[in-house]
Amino acid sequence: MRILSPAKINLHLRVGPLAADGFHPLLSWMCTVGLHDTIDLEPASGDEIKLSCDRPGVPLDATNLIVRAGKMLDPLRAAEVNLKKQIPMGGGLGGGSSNAAFALIGFNRMWNLNLLQNRLSQIAAQLGSDVTFFLHGPSSICAGRGEHVRPIDKPRAKFAVLIFPKLSMSTPAVYRRFDEMKLGSMDAMTSEPAWNAWTEMSAKELLEVLINDLEAPAFSICPDLGEMRSRLQKTIGRIIRMSGSGSTLFTLTDNRNEAERAVKEIRQTGFNADAFELAADLGGS
Ligand code: C5P
Repeated sequence: MRILSPAKINLHLRVGPLAADGFHPLLSWMCTVGLHDTIDLEPASGDEIKLSCDRPGVPLDATNLIVRAGKMLDPLRAAEVNLKKQIPMGGGLGGGSSNAAFALIGFNRMWNLNLLQNRLSQIAAQLGSDVTFFLHGPSSICAGRGEHVRPIDKPRAKFAVLIFPKLSMSTPAVYRRFDEMKLGSMDAMTSEPAWNAWTEMSAKELLEVLINDLEAPAFSICPDLGEMRSRLQKTIGRIIRMSGSGSTLFTLTDNRNEAERAVKEIRQTGFNADAFELAADLGGS
């Protein structure tokens, strides 16, 4: 069984103050993008989930979210799993969370467990903040730690241009700096934007209203990233935002031509960028 496991971007990400459970409340509009890892699943005998991966540095033991997902679904089943990575790690694109969610869906089908969405969502929430989103996608409002997911219309903007800096950010470190900077207000959690109106905005209108509360702490940890954003905004004449806790930056366009022009202009300055369909439908087979 082959499953495509897409990346996400946070179009909008508001973060509240640190809560007693050690996490921060979130309010985020998340969309999938057409950048995928590929997960191949095969049944096996025994009770081991054997994982292989083409990218060095990916943990293959019981700490991997794919293995944890399988063990939480049924500790007595076995599988052989091959993971081909395209999504950068430490990039704020939710690659590990996506792999966990699509492995859950794949194991559930391959082992004929027939668990319902509710049960999968409970397991997903224990695996990580972004995992539940990928069970719903492709365009959803996520609240709580991220585990309360409410699908909404796809944005009118059709393409995301992703800019991949050659550095990875640590999510816990960005949240720690967020706390040190005494950022986060509950107002941002409770006063929700008019999401339906936002889904109808052009790319340029939407970029004007989008916020990512993790940009300030990420740019404080890594000033080069903030400078790169400012410079590239001038080069391409469009607003650029950061996804999640970074390091990936993005802009949005209404059509493929504009996206390809932005990619070309960014590459001419020596940075790595590519255009992807925004809120692409989720892949499986
Ligand atoms: O859930 P996930 O693995 O993405 O979270 C990584 C880390 O980011 C957490 O251990 C926590 O330090 C921080 N985090 C947080 N509040 C959230 C999500 C993540 O403080 N809502």
